Amino acid sequence: MATDESKPIPGGNTVLVEFDEGIAWVHLNRPEKRNAMSMELAREMNAVLDALETDDRCGVIVLTGKGEAFSAGMDLQGFFRASDAVSDVERHRAYRETRAWQWRTLMHYAKPTIAMVNGWCFGGAFTPLICCDLAITDQDAVFGLSEINWGIIPGGVVSKAIATLMGDREALYYVMTGEKFDGRRAKELRLVNEAVPAAELKERTRALAQVLLTKNPTVLRQARMAYKYAREMDWELAAEYLTAKVDQTTFVDRERGREKGLAQFLDEKSFKPGFGHYNRDAE
Ligand code: COA
Repeated sequence: MATDESKPIPGGNTVLVEFDEGIAWVHLNRPEKRNAMSMELAREMNAVLDALETDDRCGVIVLTGKGEAFSAGMDLQGFFRASDAVSDVERHRAYRETRAWQWRTLMHYAKPTIAMVNGWCFGGAFTPLICCDLAITDQDAVFGLSEINWGIIPGGVVSKAIATLMGDREALYYVMTGEKFDGRRAKELRLVNEAVPAAELKERTRALAQVLLTKNPTVLRQARMAYKYAREMDWELAAEYLTAKVDQTTFVDRERGREKGLAQFLDEKSFKPGFGHYNRDAE
């Protein structure tokens, strides 16, 4: 992957980015506030994600938290009280900027995303967790839909987000009780792909990111988008959409992956898709 080390690193205040061989580790960076998400953080995160989308140093994003939390959710002071204190228009903008990064941008991001849950994960933090493509957690991390405990409902788009991954019984149980659960239970609830010991969390996440970096990035993007849009459609529409998406993928893929894969399997007999990736360097 081409890199441009002279480019400035985006973020630096409430969001901290570290580049590491194609992986951009994007940290929520308010450890003293357990990475609670403020209005300022939303603005900075939107700018960071925009910048990383076209930055060659980033092939995969890992979203995680500095210190002992992934995120303690929305900042009760720096988001709720602060947005209560401004005009309706500014309040509307604060919600829009928060939804933008937590949901729309991550859900439809041009590059693969992995949430790495390294500690507390509460309330509003469920939205970016769920909107990342994949997620790995410390098995002892603590999760909670704590809103009911302090007089609100899981808003933003938290209730919608949990309904995409959790079953109704489980989702309503945690919405209604506010009970905490650990990373192992998060795996059972299908909120994460894997729950691993804290000592293995970073290496396991890095290994997964490295697998994604070996794939044809155009096809990976098309496959992620196709899945996310098709799941919202009925079967007839999905069939038409996916057929067209296959053709579009061939059209936009500068690597000509389909053509190479077919030739290497059928003509050259040099590769079997069941065992791995076609030779991406071949001409
Ligand atoms: N909003 C604003 N500030 C928060 C916060 C939040 N969501 N979560 C933590 N903080 C702040 C605390 O007020 C404290 O600030 P202070 O040092 O200025 O007093 C600091 O972060 C550390 O929090 P503390 O409670 O002392 O840490 P802890 O390790 O004992 O507990 C939590 C961690 C996450 C269990 C606890 O902070 C908590 O319950 N936070 C709220 C979680 C929540 O309900 N989030 C849902 C919001 S939608």
